Amino acid sequence: MSKIAVSGKGGVGKTMFSSIVAYLLVDAGQTVYAIDADPNATLAQALGFPLDLARQVVPIVEMEDLIQERTGARPGEYGGYFRLNPRVDDIPARFSVTYRGVHLMQMGNIRGAGAGCACPENTMLRALITHLLLRERETVLMDMVAGLEHLGRGTAAAVDIMFVVVEPGRRSLDVARDIATLAKDLGIPKVWIIANKVRDERDQQFIADNLGEDALEIAGWLPFDEAAIEADMTGRAVYDMAPALVAAVRDVLVRANLIDH
Ligand SMILES: Nc1ncnc2c1ncn2[C@@H]1O[C@H](COP(=O)(O)OP(=O)(O)OP(=O)(O)O)[C@@H](O)[C@H]1O
Ligand SMILES: [Mg+2]
Repeated sequence: MSKIAVSGKGGVGKTMFSSIVAYLLVDAGQTVYAIDADPNATLAQALGFPLDLARQVVPIVEMEDLIQERTGARPGEYGGYFRLNPRVDDIPARFSVTYRGVHLMQMGNIRGAGAGCACPENTMLRALITHLLLRERETVLMDMVAGLEHLGRGTAAAVDIMFVVVEPGRRSLDVARDIATLAKDLGIPKVWIIANKVRDERDQQFIADNLGEDALEIAGWLPFDEAAIEADMTGRAVYDMAPALVAAVRDVLVRANLIDH
């Protein structure tokens, strides 16, 4: 099953897009692990998780007892000895919180600059990401930040497709080009642009004109839709509230061969 990453500048619609992708893949009969890799986790909300369930989603880096059990040391313990290959294969099934078929996990805030910090919680996170991308049999969908901190060289190549979300605005396109370069360096085979919040032809033209020399491939155009904002404000699933966005995302997934028609 596919390994999908979603990235892009802050606020462009990564989480909105990820939440719709997750439900569409579940509809297609896949078992989906949705990973909120943003320290400011909001995927549960976009998926419309009821509050009591959302509260049960504990970021992996904050699971101190589990980290101690698996690595032999507690988070924040520096310089001590701990296992560099903790067991993590049971974590997705045991520690994800499930709502409407989506198994959700949050990564939490990694310390220091990604792989740079050798501490039990980062080791645990790294082992888990490696497992999810290289060995997990089910579909894995990661809602990430622009920096791709969680992806190391060995694991990135296991990402089947990375969607980079942009909006009509120069900054998001600059960020998208940087991400695409980084993704390519990391060995991600396929990077596709999702143009979001598109109001009219002028927005479309602006995005098409500013994607750069090597013209990144656009996987789909998602309309600006008040319903997404309404969903955000009422805490309901975008998937339930914004049929126009759902239809556009479905087209993307068909084009990317992630679901059948
Ligand atoms: N197509 C759209 N039309 C209108 N509003 C949208 C659309 N997509 C997203 N939004 C709104 O834009 C805001 C940011 O969306 P979202 O949280 O999905 O972005 P993000 O890239 O995940 O942001 P962050 O970087 O903060 O995690 C939300 O209020 C969301 O409702
Ligand atoms: Mg987000």
